Amino acid sequence: MRAALVGIDFGAGDFTASVEELSLLARSAGAEPITTITARRSSPDAAYFVGSGKADEIGQACLAEKIEIVIFNHALSPAQQRNLEKRLNLRVLDRTSLILDIFAQRARSAEGKLQVELAQLNHMATRLVGGWTHLERQKGGIGLRGPGETQLETDRRLITQRVKLLRERLRRVARSRATQNRARRRAAVRTVALVGYTNAGKSTLFNRLTAAKVYAANQLFATLDTTLRRVHVQGAENIVLSDTVGFIRDLPHDLVAAFRATLAEAADADLLLHVIDASAPNRDEQIDAVDALIDEIGAGEVPQIRIYNKSDLAATAAGVERDPCGTISSVRVSAVTGAGIAELRAALAERFPASPLPVSEPTDTPARSGF
Ligand code: GTP
Repeated sequence: MRAALVGIDFGAGDFTASVEELSLLARSAGAEPITTITARRSSPDAAYFVGSGKADEIGQACLAEKIEIVIFNHALSPAQQRNLEKRLNLRVLDRTSLILDIFAQRARSAEGKLQVELAQLNHMATRLVGGWTHLERQKGGIGLRGPGETQLETDRRLITQRVKLLRERLRRVARSRATQNRARRRAAVRTVALVGYTNAGKSTLFNRLTAAKVYAANQLFATLDTTLRRVHVQGAENIVLSDTVGFIRDLPHDLVAAFRATLAEAADADLLLHVIDASAPNRDEQIDAVDALIDEIGAGEVPQIRIYNKSDLAATAAGVERDPCGTISSVRVSAVTGAGIAELRAALAERFPASPLPVSEPTDTPARSGF
């Protein structure tokens, strides 16, 4: 699908990186970015987000390039989205809807699918104004439409019912996960969670450490649901590694809330491995965004080791760094070449040393001499 990207520079943050990220997001969703339209403004326009002149300029560019969809690198109000769609006569997506769309395509576990659908419904509900067609397909089902009810009322009722059902199912899934967590704790298993910016290489590292095949792709949010697997480290306690959804700056709040349950895995962990793409030009911004989200999901107190990944691209040697107390604070690795992975395993063994085997008492100790 031919897409036009629109980014407005309000003078905050790294604008170019943010627009590049939108392009990657659009590709991940299956769109083909053909043209990018940018502008500077001090604040958004109430009616069109951009000025009406700019809106017409976008319209002309779209006509010339046979664009099928326009994607804004911002959150649009329902009114702005509607006004733009009318003026451009094209479908308009905002950043939130785009991310929701990718999440919907990628969710694999039952819980992930439920969470995404819930977030989508919440996002849609705020956009529910007459002439809304998303649920049109379900219309006409016997018993769906009450007497004298408008389509809008029917849609609202359907959404409310569906949200209630999804919430109930999610509660059940969360309960069974809590049971599993308790079982793990009883079995004295350490949980280590991989967190990090999307595309940092979490899944690749997960595969490297657990020798499992988890879908790793150069697409954003290839991993959506937490995957748990045992990792064998010589000289260490039993360790379970969990791979979590990629973080991204400006992650829609709806989604943070929806994924709190999935990310709770990270908050309950004994250690976080914060995976960083050391070759990314806006690496520091990504680190800050992840740290902020770690706080937001209540995992700020969990000890962290930073994993500087893709050392093969970043021209840095693999290795380990320690803080002034001697605790390992970061490890440079390449999940692809395997450089630094032995050091990472050693770091895990150092953090969670296996308790020494109980020494069998000598048989001739005085306490036992009576036998
Ligand atoms: P999300 O699912 O979006 O959160 O991504 P992720 O963090 O799980 O990243 P993933 O493991 O899918 O890797 C993203 C891309 O980076 C893939 O194309 C990997 O092959 C590549 N990659 C991962 N680790 C390395 C590395 O050490 N070196 C290089 N050169 N590429 C890497």
